[in-house]
Amino acid sequence: MSLAPRWRVLLLSLLLTCGSAYATDPPSQVAHAPAAVAQAQKPGHAAIASANFLATNAGLEVIKAGGNAFDAAVAVASTLSVVEPESSGLGGGFMAVLRRASDGREVFIDAREVAPAAVNAKDYLKSDGTPDRDTALNGPLSAGIPGEPAGLAWLAEHYGRLPLKQSLAPAIRIARDGFEPDSRLRGSIEERADDLRRWPASAAKYLVDGKPPVEGRTWRDPDQARTLQTIADRGGDGFYKGEVAKKLVAAVRAAGGNWSEADLAAYQVKERAPISVDYRGYRIVTAPPPSSGGVAVAEILNILRGVETEKLDRAHRIHYVIEAMRRAFRDHNDYLGDPDFVKMPLDMLLSPYYADGLRQSILPDRATPSSMLPSSAARDPGPHTTHFSIIDKDGNMIAVTSTVNYTLGSTFVAAGTGVLLNDEMDDFALVPNKPNVYGLLGSTANAPKAGKRMLSSMTPSLVIGKDRTAVIGSPGGSTIITQVLEGILAFIDGKDASDIVAQKRFHHQFMPDRVDVEQGVFDPATARELERMGYALHPREPWGFMNVVTWDHRSNTLEAASDPRRPSGLGKVQ
Ligand code: DON
Repeated sequence: MSLAPRWRVLLLSLLLTCGSAYATDPPSQVAHAPAAVAQAQKPGHAAIASANFLATNAGLEVIKAGGNAFDAAVAVASTLSVVEPESSGLGGGFMAVLRRASDGREVFIDAREVAPAAVNAKDYLKSDGTPDRDTALNGPLSAGIPGEPAGLAWLAEHYGRLPLKQSLAPAIRIARDGFEPDSRLRGSIEERADDLRRWPASAAKYLVDGKPPVEGRTWRDPDQARTLQTIADRGGDGFYKGEVAKKLVAAVRAAGGNWSEADLAAYQVKERAPISVDYRGYRIVTAPPPSSGGVAVAEILNILRGVETEKLDRAHRIHYVIEAMRRAFRDHNDYLGDPDFVKMPLDMLLSPYYADGLRQSILPDRATPSSMLPSSAARDPGPHTTHFSIIDKDGNMIAVTSTVNYTLGSTFVAAGTGVLLNDEMDDFALVPNKPNVYGLLGSTANAPKAGKRMLSSMTPSLVIGKDRTAVIGSPGGSTIITQVLEGILAFIDGKDASDIVAQKRFHHQFMPDRVDVEQGVFDPATARELERMGYALHPREPWGFMNVVTWDHRSNTLEAASDPRRPSGLGKVQ
């Protein structure tokens, strides 16, 4: 990534006007209407970037029918549930940050899964007390109570213009009439085939004669079409109460899980105040707990704010970014969890004075080994979880990151519903200080408890400036946070949507103490200099699937771009 010219120009003024990051009380009707956004301005057209062209087109279809960005979000998410089930779906959950143009309301929609009432930490341990990775990641015990259907109904009811019937129509049609699975879905089924075979309804849904579907073959999902239709007819109750709920619970319990109908009936979407941080003339509106993403992004930006980057070469600028990442992830591990269950020192973590202290602890010319920072390990995240970004003709914006966690979630389909359940329980610190599938560590703050939301890295974000605004996010487990950070820095640096999604990435998450690098992210001289400073550079396959929409207020144009690392994404301006 490039951290060049604008940093230098803006540095002096920013040193004088130290900005702030904060999470406010629950949002009032008009939350933090920013001076920076021309409220009256409307783009007059819409743009969507999502991980699948059928989903982007579904969103645009709903906008053409009179829907707004929030109706389009319902159409995109429900279509992804059908065409990109390896990443997200009705059996999972999402987090979204939205901005409503009519009154400037900014809000975080938390449709994250929760632990069932009967959760038992011992289920995730083997008899010898060591972590049982199988129950954490596969089958019904790995699944939290889904939030996605409730979240979609909430968006339609509180922010949309159209009835759910209309915004779910494209997904229902595609599930009923069929589509051709893309190479990512076929590859995901191949990768998880052995697990899918363990559950008859999963094998029946995803395998054809015991094998993954072949290229070019039309694939239908009639059970999910029926479940979507029930939600279209009855709203959230269509999923959480009645026939579908009964089938979900019966299937889960028959396979050794512990859900009850009461768990489903009790599920609630939460609206929370987003985290807002000012940085170099922009305001970043991002995800609060139970995501760790916004806190980490704010902490990193607060650290970088005071670095005299104009005096530094590229290697030393990168050095400060990595050290800021290291410190933010340390705090992620130690402090964060579900705000409805744990008290977190957010005032401290988001305070510029705290960031000043962290900045002081960075050696100007040397990596700080993570083991030297007081505190209480990683696998590749793979191509699951999904992010999409939308701006409509009125200037409504929404950033949505949605997930079933690992590829094809728990691989468990509840018979008769077409619903593939998540394996989000692994996002809890099931065993304190033992890494989860993304190598993330956690403390008691993120211990599993009945009704509690597991900590997430999902970081859907808006970057709002006087002249330009971006809607941004990505999948990628723990790397979501650093991808979004690097995307925000690139946008503030003047890059457009297609450059932001294409730029090469690097990542540090405190433990393991190494810098993951995408090939080509550092030129040889910068890489050598970083190694001299003590960094272990760890080459890794490309990661992430960023989908970004930008709005240039001066020309009043939108740009939508989808990550070139994955061929099925589509950014489209209508
Ligand atoms: O909520 C979280 O942080 C994870 N369940 C997200 C997983 C993910 O991004 C996997 N992606 N490639």
